[in-house]
Amino acid sequence: MNPSQHQLVDSLRARFGAGIAETDPQMLAPWLADWRGRFQGATPAMLSPSSLEEVQAVLAQAGAFAVPLVPQGGNTSMVGGATPPADGSAVILSLRRMNRIRSISPEDSLAIAEAGVILADFHDAAGAIGRRFPLDLGSRGSATIGGLASTNAGGTQVLRWGTMRALVAGVEAVLPDGSVHDGLSALKKDNRGYDLNQLLIGAEGTLGVITAATLRLVPAVATRAVAWAAMESPDQALSLLRRIERQTDAVESFEIMPAEALASVLAHIPGTRAPVDAKHRWHVLIEAVATDAGDRAPEDLLADLLRQPLEAGLVGDAVVSASEAQAEAFWRIRHGISESERARGAAVQHDISAPVDAMPRFMREAGAAIEARFAGTQAVAYGHLGDGNVHFHVRAPVAADRGHWYASEAPAITRAVHDLVVQAGGSISAEHGIGQMKRDELERLGPASRVATLRAIKRALDPAVLLNPGKLVTLARRLDRS
Ligand code: MLT
Ligand code: ZN
Repeated sequence: MNPSQHQLVDSLRARFGAGIAETDPQMLAPWLADWRGRFQGATPAMLSPSSLEEVQAVLAQAGAFAVPLVPQGGNTSMVGGATPPADGSAVILSLRRMNRIRSISPEDSLAIAEAGVILADFHDAAGAIGRRFPLDLGSRGSATIGGLASTNAGGTQVLRWGTMRALVAGVEAVLPDGSVHDGLSALKKDNRGYDLNQLLIGAEGTLGVITAATLRLVPAVATRAVAWAAMESPDQALSLLRRIERQTDAVESFEIMPAEALASVLAHIPGTRAPVDAKHRWHVLIEAVATDAGDRAPEDLLADLLRQPLEAGLVGDAVVSASEAQAEAFWRIRHGISESERARGAAVQHDISAPVDAMPRFMREAGAAIEARFAGTQAVAYGHLGDGNVHFHVRAPVAADRGHWYASEAPAITRAVHDLVVQAGGSISAEHGIGQMKRDELERLGPASRVATLRAIKRALDPAVLLNPGKLVTLARRLDRS
């Protein structure tokens, strides 16, 4: 621990007790690497305030002693966004002890949850008052409200309900100087200039530390059904989606995966089995819900929606879940993709978006271009077709030494994929953020005016680079302090 870090830890312990700072290396270890094991950080301490006042004190003192902070929730970032720098210069600011639901009301369908509330717990709390929070993703058991808001997380229901930007009605955040932005009041109308709530959402903890958020709730699901449909191309999948969208707004998820991803799940996730013949080239999962006893039964709706496409040959095979257990089993396959791809070994992963109608062509052409250019690789794109967002993984050649292959090939592959994304009018980060993984690519691909604006905002709010150094955009600390 360097002298400044010592001073910070000592001053906070003197004020709030020893428990506010963890310095035992064994206790710190789980929080130093990302889930995919791609980034390894180091830090001598983790600060865990449990109230707004304590977070304010942490930021004020960190500023006074010039110790950078890395805000962290469940540490589920896919882009190294919550991993501290490897040189040990920063201290982790964990929000996990700020985990109260301050209010939750079925009347206005709003809740105020602190940053450390775990998504699955929040789902339960909403369910207990007959509502739900319609954002879901594989890491629901660890991801926290603060992290989800800070990264503008997406997941599998964006098609109907949007990303966190649409679901957060306001935030409370501590700014780098220790002052508080209190935007929790959920005003429907508020035209006092720049939208500071939205500025903080998706800022990856680089402008302020979100301590609580006001979240919108929607009617609870009365019943749901999940269909599994197989076809031969993403173009057919998109045609199916467009047909469905013209007929109903009860469909919440439309997820696509190729046969290769399904095979990987079946091989690596125990208890999974293919809902239809796994040999079909492409598979989609479609969820429909009813929120009211008077609504059309979702299983009937899905069966009707699929009948004509099946007869017309647009869909090769389809099955609709006959029970909640079966619906859950279909979802287990979808949510198992990340885990199974991780178990398979090294792949160069990208989280990208394009205009929805351009995505099938992108998937076709980019897949072919990458496989042709990088001999022996296999491109696998899966995910949220309905949002124009896929996770584009480039697998190593079968015979390759995967670790070595990854180190030598990944940068060139990523640049090639991202160049194609830009040509398609898309984004190199659809829902995972920039973190440290994509920072240089953002810098390279800009556009330059965008990066300059991001940097100007960072400089205005955090000129000393106190918050999450090295993530999203860089500022030279030395220059900014002069
Ligand atoms: C998903 O949709 O499964 C997640 O965003 C994670 C991933 O990229 O694998
Ligand atoms: Zn995703």
